[in-house]
Amino acid sequence: MKKSTQAIHAGARRDINNGGLNTPVFASSAIEYLDDSEVRYPRYFNTLNHAVVADKMSALEGAEAGIVTSSGMAAIASIVFGLLGDGDHVIFTEGLYGGTHALIVNELQRFGIRYDFAAPDITAIEQLTKPATRMIFVESPGNPLLSVVDLAAVAEFAKARQIITVIDNTFATPILQNPLKLGFDLVMHSGTKYLGGHSDLCCGTVNGPAALISKVRNHAVNHGGCLNAQDCHLLERSLKTLEIRVQRQSENAGIIARQLEQNEQVQRVYYPGLESAPGHPIASRQMQGFGAMLSFELNDDIDPVGYLRRLELVICAVSLGGVETTICQPLATSHQKMPAAERQRLGITAGLLRLSVGIEDVDDIAADLLQALSEST
Ligand SMILES: Cc1ncc(COP(=O)(O)O)c(C=O)c1O
Repeated sequence: MKKSTQAIHAGARRDINNGGLNTPVFASSAIEYLDDSEVRYPRYFNTLNHAVVADKMSALEGAEAGIVTSSGMAAIASIVFGLLGDGDHVIFTEGLYGGTHALIVNELQRFGIRYDFAAPDITAIEQLTKPATRMIFVESPGNPLLSVVDLAAVAEFAKARQIITVIDNTFATPILQNPLKLGFDLVMHSGTKYLGGHSDLCCGTVNGPAALISKVRNHAVNHGGCLNAQDCHLLERSLKTLEIRVQRQSENAGIIARQLEQNEQVQRVYYPGLESAPGHPIASRQMQGFGAMLSFELNDDIDPVGYLRRLELVICAVSLGGVETTICQPLATSHQKMPAAERQRLGITAGLLRLSVGIEDVDDIAADLLQALSEST
């Protein structure tokens, strides 16, 4: 089946009592066990509402198994702490969501897990690999500068050394990028973003081979980051329109990126769909579209906060991936906790704004972004 069909039908457990088309909300936290080989319990990530979402995401990502968690960070923490321990080494690519960066620098050392940050390219990853390296964790496209990692090259390098590869695929979505098909072992999402898509859910997913997912799940059970039945149900509903939303958002983003690139008040646009982007050739190979996230840097003489205040349609908000276009200043939001020197080194300046393009009419979005620029002079 094609993705638009899988998004609607894969994993569904229809309402057999009523003939209804939708999966009911199975709200029980106490579930009979004598006639079932598996003990079912919400915190074991194995109720029917969990299974529907995990199976739908498995179909979309081309995975054997999966789990759905209470946030993207719960998914990342379950992977890292479920698969790594004292003495292990892990490589993270630069260009990570600020919360992931905070988890790494604030938590890993306490558990004896050593780490390095590598520039998002295979040569840097190879150079930092040690005998104790057990995992390579990448985010591609990365946050907030949309850096692109060559996933097939990383997977090939890691496989030869039995290193587990993990990707945060949040920005790309399973519609535009399937890392497992390029050789990655595990793929995770902050479902809070595109999977939920309506800015009203907080959730996460992990998908991969059954043996690895089982290890991640065994750890996650101890930490308790499960998603409740109602939110699983809402996530299932949202996923049915994922393909159509993401296609429209990605199309809109391409148009906006080109318009901003031509504007004299914009110093630079970061979007892997632009021919000028360093990651464009790799993104063209490994993605089926360039996504709906882009960042742009205003000229130094424009006050970024003043610009944000002049926007009338585009909403200045944290998070991303919803049907509405939102914008934020990473310095003050997603990357606030990152040390200033590190932000400066990466190019996360005060004038850098990150745009999550929605499904509104693209002319309306562009008109708003440009009117606020024209008033900047
Ligand atoms: C790329 C990326 N990964 C992970 C996360 C964390 O997800 P959550 O906020 O659902 O825990 C975020 C949140 O903004 C994100 O943007």
